[in-house]
Amino acid sequence: MRTLIAGNWKMNGTRAMLGELDRIAAIAAATEQVDVAIAPPFTLIGEAAAHAGAVMIGGQDCHSADKGAHTGEISAPMLVEMGAGFVICGHSERRAEFDETDAVVLAKAQAAQNAGLIAIICIGEDEAERDEGRALMVVASELDGSVPATATAANLVVSYEPAWAIGTGRTPTADEIGEMHGIIRAKLLQLLGEEGRGVRILYGGSVNAGNASTILACPDVNGALIGGASLTAEQFVPIIEAAANVSQ
Ligand code: PGA
Repeated sequence: MRTLIAGNWKMNGTRAMLGELDRIAAIAAATEQVDVAIAPPFTLIGEAAAHAGAVMIGGQDCHSADKGAHTGEISAPMLVEMGAGFVICGHSERRAEFDETDAVVLAKAQAAQNAGLIAIICIGEDEAERDEGRALMVVASELDGSVPATATAANLVVSYEPAWAIGTGRTPTADEIGEMHGIIRAKLLQLLGEEGRGVRILYGGSVNAGNASTILACPDVNGALIGGASLTAEQFVPIIEAAANVSQ
């Protein structure tokens, strides 16, 4: 299974940031054993795809319908036309700020996969759920509710992102990450049969150059989804290099 290092620029980036992408693309081209992906804001997807080289460009969200009266929304076929290869579905910021339920995330992931995109489905507990000892239950039920039954290892990536670790500098321990990823793998096997064995499971939440090697070496961690540290080549490239070393 190839390691995937994916960056989510969130609501950051104007054209000036495409220079960072050029620098990231140069390293990605030289790092054959790792897949590298970036989700810039919608406004940059077309230009980013033209700059990207070996970096797969994707969206941070899509609507579940292909077209229609949904002011301000972007559909999966629109992303494809701009050169996107994947879309993030159900990021915790979307679940929290825009009330996206598992059913909404499922519909978006289905639309993405129907359009030929890889859906990166995000799941993960918040701090209260972890404190109450419900993290494993929350993650299992999010997988039940948001993974399309027809998903395959080729069009699905799951990203475990505990909300309390996003942008905070805090991460679960390596043991906690390994335990959760093992549970996610078992759940994917239950939901998708043997196909679930090949689905890549990323970890996301305060991944940086300092902790990437430890996190990527955890069992069933097949890559990372990175927010803050994906915004500059200076911070993102060492994570790609760490992934290359771990996967050797
Ligand atoms: P972070 O964000 O790396 O800035 O913690 C991770 C994410 O939201 O995917």
